[in-house]
Amino acid sequence: RIFYLNGRYLPREEAHVSVEDRGYLFGDGVYEVLEIHRGALIDEDRHWQRLDRSLSELRISWPIGQAAFGRVLREVKARNKVENGFLYIQITRGAAPREHVFPAQNVRPSLLVSARPVDPRKGEAQAQKGIGVISLPDLRWKRVDIKTINLLPNVLAKQAAKEEGATEAWLFDEEGLVTEGAASNAWIIDENRTIHTHPVDHSILRGITRTTLIDIIAAKGYALKERRFSLAEARAAREAFITGALSLVMPVVRIDGKPIGEGVPGPIATELRRIFHDTAS
Ligand code: PDD
Repeated sequence: RIFYLNGRYLPREEAHVSVEDRGYLFGDGVYEVLEIHRGALIDEDRHWQRLDRSLSELRISWPIGQAAFGRVLREVKARNKVENGFLYIQITRGAAPREHVFPAQNVRPSLLVSARPVDPRKGEAQAQKGIGVISLPDLRWKRVDIKTINLLPNVLAKQAAKEEGATEAWLFDEEGLVTEGAASNAWIIDENRTIHTHPVDHSILRGITRTTLIDIIAAKGYALKERRFSLAEARAAREAFITGALSLVMPVVRIDGKPIGEGVPGPIATELRRIFHDTAS
């Protein structure tokens, strides 16, 4: 596999970052995960815009210009021959002696881009069965709208899910309301076929898949409420699903081991998944 690191394309064994990189010392950086579908970079502009916003929220400057960045993404995809899979993009504040305050202006942010192929049939097989989620308290900081590489609560939540035989964790706040998944946005569909998902604020990541799916939902004429829903509502839902660049639209069939609806992927979630790739590009 070939990695792009600060201006060079390198095999993995040669792609090294500094031991003083602030991403490594402080988690002082941001990232994006972008789906590659049949050779196309899905929702590239929206990912660029979100990365730009994350960087400006943290006052990290772009290491390269937008046009050069677009070329790097294509080059990494091509050099790794990925037709279906993902691009991973990470920008940290750069390397400097460990001090909490920002280093002097002349420190250059570091940019890493990698690509990984994925067999699309795996996701399809998973979508046909649906996934289980567990519920956990949301222990994250209050600005998870910024896509930072500080993912310890997300890592612990995903690990707990795995250890309980589930795939994702749904995080709930002090009021018992679901914010989102550890690496995805959370959705439910009620008795009246109305779709519910948490509104955009500082307590969720504004998923690109979420944004694209909202357009699809509007085009299909389904009712959508961007409102907070409780775990109790989720347990009583007719259908549930998650969205994210890695999972796309993935039906949820169990919460904390108990079935949602019939305990099989619901018709609306399944339909939305099918439409997703026809619309996104
Ligand atoms: N995660 N919420 C969280 C906390 C996420 O980490 C992600 C994505 C999403 C969905 O965003 P999008 O639709 O733009 O992928 C929501 C990526 C895939 C990851 O951490 O690997």
